[in-house]
Amino acid sequence: MRLMRIEDYPEIYSLWNECEGMDINDIDESREGIHKYLKRNPLTCFVEERDNRIVGVIMAGHDGRRGTLHHLAVAPAYRRQGIGTSLCKTALDALKSQGISKAGLFIYNDNAIGKAFWKQAGFMPHEDFDYYDHLLD
Ligand SMILES: CC(C)(COP(=O)(O)OP(=O)(O)OC[C@H]1O[C@@H](n2cnc3c(N)ncnc32)[C@H](O)[C@@H]1OP(=O)(O)O)[C@@H](O)C(=O)NCCC(=O)NCCS
Repeated sequence: MRLMRIEDYPEIYSLWNECEGMDINDIDESREGIHKYLKRNPLTCFVEERDNRIVGVIMAGHDGRRGTLHHLAVAPAYRRQGIGTSLCKTALDALKSQGISKAGLFIYNDNAIGKAFWKQAGFMPHEDFDYYDHLLD
């Protein structure tokens, strides 16, 4: 495992597209969008390499108070080998080392595999609030 770099973008973008349940859009996940994120969070985003390719990725960042995990993905052929778990642990340790003590994530309601993963990793769902957002144009 190693830190993610912007040069990884094409490989990571195709990995995200290979995976179900990802929320990939043309603005946030454009090369420029990801580059901005990496510049703000250079020490908390990681990739796993196997067989000379990137097979797993996680992006993590924080606002000085809470951490957020984004876009954890493991290539289908490499799943159930603990890669998602070790990416998650490494990202959480990196957030901790920056003084962050709580982290969360967003997940689509119908992503049953993702939900099973996060639950066993110790993340608890919140049933009591909705998320609102607004496009800034
Ligand atoms: C979710 C995901 C990252 C898990 O990656 P992974 O490397 O397979 O995860 P791990 O091997 O570390 O699994 C750890 C545990 O999570 C649970 N889990 C993982 N995949 C599961 C599945 N398909 N069904 C049920 N539980 C599952 C199991 O408890 C597993 O432990 P076990 O294999 O000993 O039973 C991967 O399935 C994926 O990329 N999914 C598509 C993208 C996605 O939904 N990402 C999350 C968006 S928020």
